[in-house]
Amino acid sequence: MTERSQWGSRLGFILASAGSAVGLGAIWKFPYLAGTNGGSIFMLPYIFFTITIGLTLLIGEMCMGRSARAGAAGAFRRWGGPYLGWIGQLSVLTGYLVLAFYSVVGGWCTYYMVQAFMGNGIVNDPAMMRTLFGDFAASGTVPVISHLAFLGATALVVYFGVEKGIERIAKFLMPLLFFMMLGLIIRGLTLPGAWAGVEFLFKPDLSQFTGESLLNAMGFAFFSLSVGSASQMNYGSYLSDKVNLPTSVSWIVFLAILASLLGGLMIMPAVFAFGLSPDAGPGLTFATMPAVFAQLPFGNLFAITFYVCLFVAALTSSISIFEMSVQYLADQYKIARHIGVALVGTTLAFLGILCALSFGPLADVKIFGFTFFDFFDYLTSNIGMPIGVLGIGLVVGWFARPMAERQLQLVKPYPPAFLAGFHLIAGVVSPILIIVVTLKGLGLF
Ligand code: ALA
Repeated sequence: MTERSQWGSRLGFILASAGSAVGLGAIWKFPYLAGTNGGSIFMLPYIFFTITIGLTLLIGEMCMGRSARAGAAGAFRRWGGPYLGWIGQLSVLTGYLVLAFYSVVGGWCTYYMVQAFMGNGIVNDPAMMRTLFGDFAASGTVPVISHLAFLGATALVVYFGVEKGIERIAKFLMPLLFFMMLGLIIRGLTLPGAWAGVEFLFKPDLSQFTGESLLNAMGFAFFSLSVGSASQMNYGSYLSDKVNLPTSVSWIVFLAILASLLGGLMIMPAVFAFGLSPDAGPGLTFATMPAVFAQLPFGNLFAITFYVCLFVAALTSSISIFEMSVQYLADQYKIARHIGVALVGTTLAFLGILCALSFGPLADVKIFGFTFFDFFDYLTSNIGMPIGVLGIGLVVGWFARPMAERQLQLVKPYPPAFLAGFHLIAGVVSPILIIVVTLKGLGLF
């Protein structure tokens, strides 16, 4: 069995956990989901769900992991008892399945990074933007190899236990990514026609509202924080008692929202300026960026730096999921680390290949009307994570209230009103919202 290690410092924990949260979600998924779900009518609920349910239950998730000194399966068994214990296993499965399609997008990033290194990081003709991405994604072999390369990099980091090394690199590259995004936003906003993208993101347009877009916004709020999918609970289990959860987790949530907003502002104005359709789907970011780089001096150099930063941001998220899956096998079945890495790696390689081929040879193979890629994406964000988050709410709001209060106040006491507010959101508001939004989004009423 592997030893359960501990974070060296509060900052180390915040950076690792923020690294788990901030990744492709902000830069790839947020713009494309905003584009296909009515812009502002997606973004505003996303922010609402993140600062209410997301923040409260990410704190709750850390409380559970730290107090149980166990991952989601053990923590739910300990605190959820016979009724909620199964949610831990489901959360582990959810996180694991995220990596099946996440690794494909990580592969896209890897491919674009390699292309940029080869001097092909920019596209001067906006008409080519969609075609280039579409041809690449549909080609079959190259996206599969790219996915395997990204997954292999993740597995190597976890196998050699060099997560700390990656975190040290991420400490520099993540802030660099934020600064580059700011630069790209400024460039994008000065393109003719770009403000239509800002309006699309911020000007409420109720005519676009649907139950499904609301569910997508809630699902993305959970996805972007990695809440309810076991990896953050695993990180919480490594956390020292000296860390104050409410303040540290607020930082993580703040960084995740900021990243998504920057991601949206980086892509959407450029999409409108170049006359691309905002509802172009999962390829939106990758189709748009090369044309934005073309508008910059030293565009290709910018492209290289950007993709390297994005690659590392994606890696810090995928590592947290991979690590959680391997730790689960070690905790539950006493499976040695190297065998765990091989098991998780090979099964995800297979599932990821199905997802990678969803844009080409397997585009017509559908499960409940979804391609493999969309199926895993929808299943995890819109069903698995809501159930995981709901379970956390019930545990910290009802089943194990004293544990949650102790965990919240390990470093300093909080006024009774704070604790009452925490329990109200965790135990009452969140479950009601999650159930109503999920059932409405699935069209069940
Ligand atoms: N939370 C991770 C991301 O947004 C999965 O990339």
